[in-house]
Amino acid sequence: MTGPLRAALSPVELGGVPLRNRVFVPGHTTNFGHENRPTARHADYHAERARGGVGLIITEAIRVHPTSAGRHISLGCFDDASIPAYAAIADAVHAEGAAIFAQIMHAGRQANGDATRTAAWSASALPWATGAHTPHAMSTRDIGTVVRAFGAAAARMSRAGYDGLEVHAGHGHLLQQFLSPVTNHRTDGYGGSGANRLRLTREVLTAVRVAAPELPVGLRVSADEFLPGGLEPGDVIEIVSTLREEFPLAYVHVSHSAYHGSWSLATQMADMSFGHAPFRHHAGMFRRALPGLPVLAVCRLDSVGEAAELIASGEADLVGLARPHIADPHLVRKAAEGREHETRSCVACNQGCIGRVEQNLPISCVVNPEVGAERVWAGVHSRRRAGSVLVVGGGPAGLEAALAAHRRGKRVTLVEAADRLGGQVALAARVPGRERFGLLTRELERDVRAAGITVRTGVRADAGLVRAECADDVVLATGSVPVRRELPGGPPVLDTWQAVETVCGEEAVPNVVVIRDDCGSWAAASLAEAFAARGARVHLVSPSASYSAQVTTYSRLALTKRFTDHGVRVHLLRTVSPKDSDTVLLTDPVSGGTEPITGVGAVVDAGAATSADALLHELADVARVHVAGDANAPRTALEAVYEGRVAGAVLAAEPDPEPVLLALSR
Ligand SMILES: Cc1cc2nc3c(=O)[nH]c(=O)nc-3n(C[C@H](O)[C@H](O)[C@H](O)COP(=O)(O)O)c2cc1C
Ligand code: SF4
Repeated sequence: MTGPLRAALSPVELGGVPLRNRVFVPGHTTNFGHENRPTARHADYHAERARGGVGLIITEAIRVHPTSAGRHISLGCFDDASIPAYAAIADAVHAEGAAIFAQIMHAGRQANGDATRTAAWSASALPWATGAHTPHAMSTRDIGTVVRAFGAAAARMSRAGYDGLEVHAGHGHLLQQFLSPVTNHRTDGYGGSGANRLRLTREVLTAVRVAAPELPVGLRVSADEFLPGGLEPGDVIEIVSTLREEFPLAYVHVSHSAYHGSWSLATQMADMSFGHAPFRHHAGMFRRALPGLPVLAVCRLDSVGEAAELIASGEADLVGLARPHIADPHLVRKAAEGREHETRSCVACNQGCIGRVEQNLPISCVVNPEVGAERVWAGVHSRRRAGSVLVVGGGPAGLEAALAAHRRGKRVTLVEAADRLGGQVALAARVPGRERFGLLTRELERDVRAAGITVRTGVRADAGLVRAECADDVVLATGSVPVRRELPGGPPVLDTWQAVETVCGEEAVPNVVVIRDDCGSWAAASLAEAFAARGARVHLVSPSASYSAQVTTYSRLALTKRFTDHGVRVHLLRTVSPKDSDTVLLTDPVSGGTEPITGVGAVVDAGAATSADALLHELADVARVHVAGDANAPRTALEAVYEGRVAGAVLAAEPDPEPVLLALSR
């Protein structure tokens, strides 16, 4: 074990609470709630991460008042009746040796008031994004209500057995909306001067101290709002410094961003385009400016080893790994046992976690399909099953199916037509900026090889081969093929696979490239960016009223900035037709008007792919054939991995899979 790793895994005290190491799980909303209360899924989820060795878990944002509740699957703490459900989480985490702090917050203007039939509350009547509702500018009576609600929530968390509290004054939530001159235009005692804008946070901290004097209280802040005229690190350090004089803060948790419909929001959950630890400098700034106050660092620290380096460099006291813990709940234990090389890495795709939060669905993970169903899967894995499984296809679904079946005790053979494994993920990861995605299938392949599963590449399976193998179960994970709709008389058309070869090749790329963004996929978006980065003039054409619609807002806002930086032109509500060999016409389906794009060297068709499912139909008479991933229906790696795991561990291994499938579907 390296020195930095040993230091990161050594015990520490935070606000008087002993922690077994310096790695924590930062708060992340799971959408596992019901009627704004925690469920058994929460307890199972956090217990799994505590079992995985982390020192401290900070809960997801617990809304203190119904005006912040939004959808009912988020967490709130509005009455004493919620205490037992919170206690169940704390008990489960403590039983596994970790400490747990409750994050208490009011979301302010971005709370979904439509769900609760309440208006969102904020400092001023300023919406967070174009098209969002204008919030209600809070009266002093409303402010008093929120202050009391913070106090009540603190008292309830204390009764529920939590070790500490984290007051959320960052991420553009209500307290930050008061702190920031961008969102606080008030002229009363809560607006104007810095001291006035700080008033609400001080009142909240006072109420929390009075209500739960026995609990240490940390503060989460955004070091930088990344907004013109917004809070910058110097301002936020001054805020924390002032508060520290009045309150015995246990720590400052240094994050960043405002909840604003711009690049700022995308920084909060920086995706793979940002690279490793893009905002690590903030923690160091706070640590130097506020000696003696423990500083918690966060965001794309990516692995225990890399995070440990931050502590070793003196830039942070504790390091947070949120998405890495979604992807691999046991990453701390693996590092402690010298098995860091077995970690399943978060690929920073934002597809399964925050992407599903945005869709009002429980979180999942591209890497870890067991998220939120830990108990069901533990039951599945506990039952060993004999027999053989043939997996056809070595992309994410096939690799996942092979591993899952092996784990159930099956004898597994995997055949892949190409001479390498990884399928379309390996292809997508060749596009500049998307390289980290390749970790998904590289680590799957690593684990398949380590498990000793028989792998035959360069073998195209046909019905004869499948029948000759005489496996008890067959999993077909043969993927999909891209569409290529020719434009007769028009410019040459590339499918997405050809486009990857072109943009990653040595040859010059065409001067003008048109990308048909029919599905709003990452494929279209990343190719647009990559061609533009190589100097092409790129036109991204969407037949619908939005672009890159499958890309979560939390990533699309960063993508938009990169499009702007690269000069990508986006055309909405336009269809593409050929005019001549280097001209296409964009047609406005509303007015019928057309507009030419000239000098076009290539049109990339990023329309819907087609399942490669011929083998499935040829094997219609074979009883135990299961299909997974794009071969089932062309979608994304999130579905491929999930269906691969289900196919290998459930469909191919359970005599009666229905009860498990039902439990997983809930
Ligand atoms: C699905 C998801 C939900 C999140 N919800 C919260 C939340 O409830 N409260 C909070 O303070 N931060 C939340 N965050 C932000 C994380 O705490 C963290 O700052 C961010 O994910 C960057 O850290 P990471 O790179 O280790 O994931 C959320 C992040 C994700 C991915
Ligand atoms: S879905 Fe993607 S970003 Fe989210 S935790 Fe999993 S791998 Fe990481």
